[in-house]
Amino acid sequence: MDVDEILTGLYSEQGRQNPYPWYAALHGHGPISTVPARAEHSTITAVAAGYDLVDQVLRDPQWYKQAPPGWQEQEILRTFNSSMMFVNPPDHTRMRSVFAKTFTPRRLGALEPVIVRVVDTLLDRMAEAGADGAETDFVADFAYPVPALVMAEFIGLPESDLAWYRQRVDWIDEFLDVAGKTPQRLALANQAAEELRAYYRDLIAHRRARPGEDLISGLVEAVDAGDVPLTEEELISNLIVLFNASFVTTVYMFSNGLPLLLAHPDVVAALPGDDALARGCVDEVLRLASPVHFLARAAPRDTELGGVPVRRDENVLLMIAGANRDPARFPDPDRFDPRRDGPPSLAFGVGPHFCLGAAVSRLEGRLALPRLLARFPRLTVTRTPTYSGSLFLRGIDKLFVSTGG
Ligand code: HEM
Repeated sequence: MDVDEILTGLYSEQGRQNPYPWYAALHGHGPISTVPARAEHSTITAVAAGYDLVDQVLRDPQWYKQAPPGWQEQEILRTFNSSMMFVNPPDHTRMRSVFAKTFTPRRLGALEPVIVRVVDTLLDRMAEAGADGAETDFVADFAYPVPALVMAEFIGLPESDLAWYRQRVDWIDEFLDVAGKTPQRLALANQAAEELRAYYRDLIAHRRARPGEDLISGLVEAVDAGDVPLTEEELISNLIVLFNASFVTTVYMFSNGLPLLLAHPDVVAALPGDDALARGCVDEVLRLASPVHFLARAAPRDTELGGVPVRRDENVLLMIAGANRDPARFPDPDRFDPRRDGPPSLAFGVGPHFCLGAAVSRLEGRLALPRLLARFPRLTVTRTPTYSGSLFLRGIDKLFVSTGG
């Protein structure tokens, strides 16, 4: 199969449902392949799934994030391009430094009891809903509310706003997918950005009048006092991107992870009380069922990567989910092995843009999964899971389970 056929397969409905055979086919062509020139992926020159090569490009600060042409005319792209996730140094370094200071060990420590409280409340509700063997949706009842409620408390968003907020997050995420650049999806993403900007302007005004202990109050105070190098508009863009980045990804960590864990009863039995195993399970779930499948970087100069020429300003598609199953780095790459040694997966990226919230998600997973499985030792999946249909953020959207009565 040539690379064109592989990419067509990967972007197809079937590929989105299960992209892993296509990544394996890409590995057969080596760590990187030239993309045949075609309209659908015309900004992309090459596609890489080799672990070492993807790792090398992501670590190199000269490989940069390229804004699409005409971005100034679109609200969603203006929002992205004034946030740390989409910009390059020096703006990236400046913005990231402000937020990096808020993810301190002290704040993470303070999040532990919040996570435990949220998880235990949801487990009580699941027990009630699943009494008498009734089927329940694990995504609606657990995978979605855990990160949403934890992040809402961390950032300082009222819980009652979350359902409204979730719709806007979905519009933005649909636009980010490979096939997302349609006029309809762009319009919805622009609407989401406009409404979220208005939402945050209001929230900031309220917190300015009545500051609380939350992240937003602290940041507003610091911006107003001129203590941090950030404008209010940049603060808003970064809050939008931070919340967006934080929660569908973590939803999928739980929903993609549960079937993997349940397929290994020995691990399920050993998990409660074994913290090292819980950490290993979280990392192995993220490697094998990565929520984010690809990133892109543009070349700083005419160069060559793994024998493939890439010209200045051309983009390379970096298949992190494929790299996470590179047989050269992960022996027997499709096997779930939470005690595996070896390099870290690239599920959170690596280098200057490495996920700012990795420790938050890992903590949620490490605390929540053992509690879930201790509470419901007979938990089973009752129907074939339904995937989101997006390749960029790939995950299970509906997962029916029985708690065991
Ligand atoms: C399992 C859950 C998560 C996954 C798989 C994930 C994945 C990623 C990846 C792959 C990147 C790198 C983007 C790039 O290099 O272009 C990233 C960046 C980022 N993530 Fe996460 N993430 C998760 C959870 C979170 C959480 C909980 C937060 C916030 C609390 C968060 C906030 C961010 C931010 C702000 C960035 C941008 C950092 C920068 O550009 O410097 N993420 N994430």
